[in-house]
Amino acid sequence: MSTISLLVASTDEHFREMVRESLLNMPNAKVAAEYPEITLNLYVRVLQDLERQPEAALFLDLAGDPETSLKALEKIKQAAPDLYVIAANYAGDAESVIHAVRSGANDFIQLPLRRADFRDAITRLERVPRRAVTGGSRLGRVYTFLGVKGGAGTTTLATNFAGVLAQRKQNTVLLDLDWSANDVAMQIGAGAPQHSIWDLTEAIGRMDQALFEGLAMRDPLGFLYLGPPDTLMPQGYYLGPMLREASTFLVEKYDSVVIDAGRDVNNELVQTALQVSTTVFLVMTQEYPAIRNAQRYMALLAQLGFTVDQVKILLNNYTKKPGQNLATLEQIQQTLGQQVFYGIPPSPAVLAAINRGRPFIEDRQAAGDLDRIFRAFVDKATGRKKEDLAKSA
Ligand SMILES: Nc1ncnc2c1ncn2[C@@H]1O[C@H](COP(=O)(O)OP(=O)(O)O)[C@@H](O)[C@H]1O
Ligand SMILES: [Mg+2]
Repeated sequence: MSTISLLVASTDEHFREMVRESLLNMPNAKVAAEYPEITLNLYVRVLQDLERQPEAALFLDLAGDPETSLKALEKIKQAAPDLYVIAANYAGDAESVIHAVRSGANDFIQLPLRRADFRDAITRLERVPRRAVTGGSRLGRVYTFLGVKGGAGTTTLATNFAGVLAQRKQNTVLLDLDWSANDVAMQIGAGAPQHSIWDLTEAIGRMDQALFEGLAMRDPLGFLYLGPPDTLMPQGYYLGPMLREASTFLVEKYDSVVIDAGRDVNNELVQTALQVSTTVFLVMTQEYPAIRNAQRYMALLAQLGFTVDQVKILLNNYTKKPGQNLATLEQIQQTLGQQVFYGIPPSPAVLAAINRGRPFIEDRQAAGDLDRIFRAFVDKATGRKKEDLAKSA
């Protein structure tokens, strides 16, 4: 029996819940991803998810904003012409259905969603010869580092991650979205850069690569950096939409976008970053408060539509045999119900590098074991194959 994976896009929580519940009764079907927002660059997330689930189909609820949803659908089909799409809407007249089909829908369900109609649509989907969907364009990846508490090492890991990717000749952008500090700039010795993410808001509506590169700073390691203004100022409400727009060309023009999201998960900028992320690294330590917070963050990420394999737990300052005030790896995995993706050991090289104002991966000898372990983590995170490793020892 073949399995059915659905990507479910709807601004309506009840819609998504009903799909989830209906699928519970179909043992061979599951929801692979949920998108609570339908915007023109939804195709970015869809393509990212198709990379993991090439046989998935999309169930798209047009009802929230039919016009935007149909445009979003057109872009999705341009990017992935073979993707099977079931559209749904209250309006079920011939004109509405034809419009949906012309925009790329393969099937149509009239709302309100009835279980029987949904089951029938799934049966029709099952009959379609399945083929793996490949995206038309190869999109860059967005790696977001989110700390479950301050001082967990989020900035350190994000900065060095971008550094390793740049050393591997990946076209990389490093964004610092932690508005309360300017720590990435400090860790890469950038001083107080002239431009900030804030400057991007002035270009909203006409943003492109040239404009971005005019504002970003080129680090000696090769990545481009842009961060918060050095003077503390309120974020304003343009920043979420701005990042959404920026992410569209960033993933088209660059191999990797690395984001230091800090730890303020209720912030709109950070939530937007999460929505466009391929992978979220949840940075935590073995301290009990960090574990408690990690649980809360994981619940939120699940609510935002992230699946377990998109959220990866990073255990920083990891020691195998912690004292009695710290949890063991096993305890953490048991409490969180998920494997830890990687453990990064404590090393005096980290603070030395911060004081030097350069990422620790720049001085491989000084960082020793930490450097080796960190690069192995980057390999695992980027899915680098063994033969590639041989090429760039
Ligand atoms: N693996 C590590 N080994 C030793 N010290 C570390 C390690 N990771 C982080 N630190 C230290 O923890 C402090 C906070 O790191 P930072 O990256 O700024 O965390 P966050 O961004 O989560 O607040 C820094 O002073 C850094 O030196
Ligand atoms: Mg930080």
